[in-house]
Amino acid sequence: MAPFLTFTMFTLYLALISATVITANDTFSQHFATTKSTPTATKTTRLQFYFHDIVSGKHPTAIPIIRPKNAFGTTAMVDDPLTLDTKPGPKLVGRAQGLYALASKHDLALLMAMNFAFTYGKYNGSTLSIMGRNPILDAVREMAIIGGSGVFRFACGYALASTVRNNRKTGDAVVQYNVTVMHG
Ligand SMILES: *[C@@H]1O[C@H](CO)[C@@H](O)[C@H](O)[C@H]1NC(C)=O
Ligand SMILES: *[C@@H]1O[C@H](CO)[C@@H](O)[C@H](O)[C@H]1NC(C)=O
Ligand SMILES: *[C@@H]1O[C@H](CO)[C@@H](O)[C@H](O)[C@H]1NC(C)=O
Repeated sequence: MAPFLTFTMFTLYLALISATVITANDTFSQHFATTKSTPTATKTTRLQFYFHDIVSGKHPTAIPIIRPKNAFGTTAMVDDPLTLDTKPGPKLVGRAQGLYALASKHDLALLMAMNFAFTYGKYNGSTLSIMGRNPILDAVREMAIIGGSGVFRFACGYALASTVRNNRKTGDAVVQYNVTVMHG
């Protein structure tokens, strides 16, 4: 058995102690008959909000921090408002803080690495961490939620993002996010 496969199997067995391998006919994927949900992640929460990426004007919320000659590698640091509404404004539920970078030489696919820091209701002070591939021209993009804090401790899930508005002149964009997470 290849060392990589051995390592992968070992890791999987650690993570899914009671799982049973039912099919394993290649090295790329393994399917498990049963997966015990971890006792720490017991709740499922769905969130829906809008992400406002403001790159123009006097008060941009996203600024380029790396600008290579060619677009590939372009990186922006963001502190983007998250709202209940498609309009930026009073209905703030949090902020997306972190960075996105053009990580593809072939299309407009961003690496997203940021935290959603919530300020709304019982979620105030809690965060979700998103890390994923965001091909921004696709109608719907799926990205991983890889962790969280506060009410979102042990979070694990996914986000679906869809651009609502994109101003070609200014570059400003509004993106709808539907987030589904399991957490403690
Ligand atoms: C794995 O098994 C399935 C079903 O038996 C088969 O269709 C598929 O080609 C196999 N894949 C490989 C990589 O052998
Ligand atoms: C969120 O919590 C902070 C710190 O406890 C508090 O100062 C702030 O007013 C709260 N915000 C909202 C919107 O409840
Ligand atoms: C988010 O969910 C709403 C329904 O609650 C749906 O209309 C919308 O298309 C979804 N958006 C994405 C990006 O999945």
